[in-house]
Amino acid sequence: MLGARCDNRQRWHLAGCSTLTTSDVRTQSETFMKAAYFSAPGPPEVIQYGELPRPIAGPSEVLVRTAAVAVNPIDTYIRNGANYWPLPSPYIIGCDLAGEVIEVGGSVRQFRVGDRVWCSNQGLMGRSGTFAEFCCVDEQWLYPLPTNVDYEVGAAIALVGITAHLGLFARANLQAGETILVRGGSGGVGSVVIQMAKRLGARVVTTAGSSDKARACQELGADHVVLYREQDEVQAVREFAPQGVNVLWETARIPNFDRSVEMLAERGRMILMAGRDARPEFPVGPFYVKQCQLHGFVMFKATAKEQRKCAEEINQWMADGSLKPRISHRMKLAEAAQAHRMQEQSTVHLSGEVAGKIVLVP
Ligand SMILES: NC(=O)c1ccc[n+]([C@@H]2O[C@H](COP(=O)([O-])OP(=O)(O)OC[C@H]3O[C@@H](n4cnc5c(N)ncnc54)[C@H](OP(=O)(O)O)[C@@H]3O)[C@@H](O)[C@H]2O)c1
Repeated sequence: MLGARCDNRQRWHLAGCSTLTTSDVRTQSETFMKAAYFSAPGPPEVIQYGELPRPIAGPSEVLVRTAAVAVNPIDTYIRNGANYWPLPSPYIIGCDLAGEVIEVGGSVRQFRVGDRVWCSNQGLMGRSGTFAEFCCVDEQWLYPLPTNVDYEVGAAIALVGITAHLGLFARANLQAGETILVRGGSGGVGSVVIQMAKRLGARVVTTAGSSDKARACQELGADHVVLYREQDEVQAVREFAPQGVNVLWETARIPNFDRSVEMLAERGRMILMAGRDARPEFPVGPFYVKQCQLHGFVMFKATAKEQRKCAEEINQWMADGSLKPRISHRMKLAEAAQAHRMQEQSTVHLSGEVAGKIVLVP
């Protein structure tokens, strides 16, 4: 059956599985689930939608019935064969999820059956992904979903919310009254960075590829939007912030550091979190003479404690309505391959057709 197996990360209910106990025995209809997965990396067409064994919660795990999931660019890099770590086979795609707890492992303390929850950081570092009707999540990566927040919102904010929080507060140390340039303000990450920065009391300038996207950025709270296809970005940013920006959040996969450093203020901080293969030139002299700092990070290497700190504030902000994901497309889980195609076209091939998040429901 599709290479099904039992190991510490993924216990599936199958006859002969050594982790099976009498209390685990389920009816046939409870034994399988629909999932989007692949067995070997490749283009979006490698994604299959079909039945896989339903996972069983280990002692520290929670079994969640999926209500919504969201696509991230990293999902497409992994599917394409980016050799970050060995993948389970078959590999269920996806990092983000929101849903309802239906089973808890024996040592789980923070969650009960019936709780509404969300998570990110699945499908990464060898863990199985979220694009399935059910998902087992270790409780360290799971967070309660506020009662007034929709599942779709929880799934769509997950990875980008934690990324934005880590970058703005743990890395760039953005302060109220400072100015930040968010490159790519209508994107999944950029749209959340804008909102968190405004919430803190920063002045926000961002970039957009069209006037529709510029309007969307303004609705999210941006004070000024540069139409980078029509305007000279450096000049426009300098007009908004004559002394330069205190923080520059770069979402482009191939940054132009000459222009970026020109836009930074004295003691400015630059966040880098995209473009693994990028090797652009770097203007060492102008950078250090301005006493600037460079911060690079990947969210999935943050510890569970660091991510939980982000999630707790994200929960407060989702609940009080000050943080909302920008949902670009809603689709069915069965359309996972098409969702990957759209995300890849938009983020990697720069078609710009996705402005925010793609959310899928079972
Ligand atoms: N390190 C981490 O932990 C981490 C976490 C999340 C994401 N990422 C990475 O960060 C990147 C962004 O992620 P995302 O989810 O926000 O992707 P996204 O939703 O596709 O957003 C990308 C943004 O880039 C903008 N853009 C495209 N070409 C541009 C150009 N030439 N100049 C300026 N802006 C341009 C797009 O806006 P327009 O259409 O308006 O041009 C869009 O808003 C991806 O590469 C992703 O893999 C890293």
